[in-house]
Amino acid sequence: MIKVAFFDTKDYDKASFLPYEKTAGLEFKFYETKLTEDTVDLARGSDAVCVFVNDTVNAAVIDKLVAMGVKVVALRCAGYNNVDIKYAMKKIHVFRVPAYSPYAVAEHAMALLLTSVRRIHKAYIRTRDFNFSLSGMTGFDLHGKTVGVVGTGKIGRVFIDICRGFGMKVVAYDLYPAADSGIDYVSLDELFKVSDVISLHCPLSDETWHMIDYPAIEKMKDGVVILNTSRGALINAEALLEGIKSKKIGAACLDVYEEEANIFFEDRSGHILRDDLLSRLISMPNVIVTSHQAFLTEEALANIAATTVENITCFYHNNGNCDNELCYRCGSAQICEKTHLNNNRVQ
Ligand code: NAI
Repeated sequence: MIKVAFFDTKDYDKASFLPYEKTAGLEFKFYETKLTEDTVDLARGSDAVCVFVNDTVNAAVIDKLVAMGVKVVALRCAGYNNVDIKYAMKKIHVFRVPAYSPYAVAEHAMALLLTSVRRIHKAYIRTRDFNFSLSGMTGFDLHGKTVGVVGTGKIGRVFIDICRGFGMKVVAYDLYPAADSGIDYVSLDELFKVSDVISLHCPLSDETWHMIDYPAIEKMKDGVVILNTSRGALINAEALLEGIKSKKIGAACLDVYEEEANIFFEDRSGHILRDDLLSRLISMPNVIVTSHQAFLTEEALANIAATTVENITCFYHNNGNCDNELCYRCGSAQICEKTHLNNNRVQ
């Protein structure tokens, strides 16, 4: 049996993974706590750890996992900014789920956009209180507006298709533009300048950290709507708040937040929220926050479980030759998704 310790486990994780226990030759231990330097000892005796977006896989955690004989870090998500991939190289194998449902995230982005521009969040509360007034509910048509999509990978492309279905004009920015895609690529500055709506779909990296900051917001159209379903730290939240207060930004829809790790995914009603910035953002009538739920569809959960189990079993049964492994190529400063070359491989 391959023993796997799950961190940051929720009920929906258990429900989607449990059918694989025993049948796939796996034995699971589910921990609700996140993986950190303080909790890593729980992985003792495991062959693999299975982690999510807010677990910490830094150098200290990697060292401890390696010392305990853990061979695999299986991310049950696509993003891997919480893992020190460079440090992990030649020490431990890191797998991710590169695609489980780009539709889930792209559809959630559009749901947030529609909710915001048509004030559905306000209407829902009003009519439940038998308040049928339309005062302050005027929205705007998406048809004919320009949407700027940053990152035209799997999710960005699905979002582009959805926006085109609404009759929106699409411009995009990507560090690696897709050839022959029919996408109208522009510079990031041009995207900021012409977009009525900006939607972020690129990964978080040193390059993209705070890509939406004070100077970027200055370049944007007055009344721009900003959507972030990617990673919180793509946006400097203080700059966003200032942009909203000055009415430069017309609305913000956030499924992610830079400091979400100790806030999101839990019921904190009845507690005093210590994060003043998030409290202030949430208090704004034109800000909608969801708790990193864009991925959360039945289809996505099923695909995440299937691919994660495949990643782990493939590592143990296929001589470690599996897709979906992340490695840091020496000298190229580029994360590559394919298996390490054999000479780089942890034995
Ligand atoms: P992907 O890897 O298919 O696409 C990412 C795109 O971003 C690529 O085209 C890449 O060339 C581009 N890119 C890389 N660096 C860039 C830069 N500096 N500037 C502009 N573009 C750059 O990834 P996918 O599946 O589309 O996911 C995108 C992001 O969505 C993930 O990195 C993750 O952070 C986030 N995500 C959020 C979820 C949620 O529940 N809110 C769920 C799944 C993913």
